Amino acid sequence: MTERIIRRAQENDLPHIARINAEVFLGDRDHPESAKGWSDCWFRAFPLYQYFVAEEDEVVVGYAGWQAHGGFHRAEPVIELDQIGICKSAQGKGIGQELMRSNMRALVDWTKESNDRIESHVSFVVWVYAFNFNAINAYAQVFGEGIQGSRTQFGNRAEVMLRSRFPVIRPVRNDH
Ligand SMILES: CC(C)(COP(=O)(O)OP(=O)(O)OC[C@H]1O[C@@H](n2cnc3c(N)ncnc32)[C@H](O)[C@@H]1OP(=O)(O)O)[C@@H](O)C(=O)NCCC(=O)NCCS
Repeated sequence: MTERIIRRAQENDLPHIARINAEVFLGDRDHPESAKGWSDCWFRAFPLYQYFVAEEDEVVVGYAGWQAHGGFHRAEPVIELDQIGICKSAQGKGIGQELMRSNMRALVDWTKESNDRIESHVSFVVWVYAFNFNAINAYAQVFGEGIQGSRTQFGNRAEVMLRSRFPVIRPVRNDH
């Protein structure tokens, strides 16, 4: 039976992240060295940017990068799924959805620990090209509020935004 593990990325995962990036994204398609330079930059931006990987039988088959927006002590924290890539041979097996769900739980825990100002929830958003139906299908099952916005940011390609909100209940303080 295949053993699947979702965990935070470590520095030695970066070549694997770059390999997948160069396989499934256009920005550095077929240029793993260039993709490595790109992911190195984001990795160094921790905790502003946080990488997670999915392993099957100890092989990294997918990754996701999440970016916090607007500061680390926002009353309404917003974290964006900036990029998720599953290698082609592992797509359509539920790994992407499991990776996103598990990452959201870990990021809610991280936010609760690092931010004492949260008022009611942590929001997760993702922007995706409107023609990327595979990704929209996978996102729609995880970002429960569905499509909440649209824009045309780069070139002429329309994007839609999906959102999910996790309630955060804080204990009542007695010190003031
Ligand atoms: C989009 C992506 C992250 C989804 O991850 P995944 O592990 O393949 O998707 P899952 O198996 O978790 O989810 C499957 C669902 O997503 C859809 N899906 C997405 N990609 C699919 C694929 N290659 N094959 C089959 N179904 C796919 C299906 O509609 C399916 O819905 P269903 O369960 O109702 O049948 C992955 O396919 C990928 O890396 N794609 C290329 C890069 C990309 O477009 N990233 C998103 C933009 S940042």
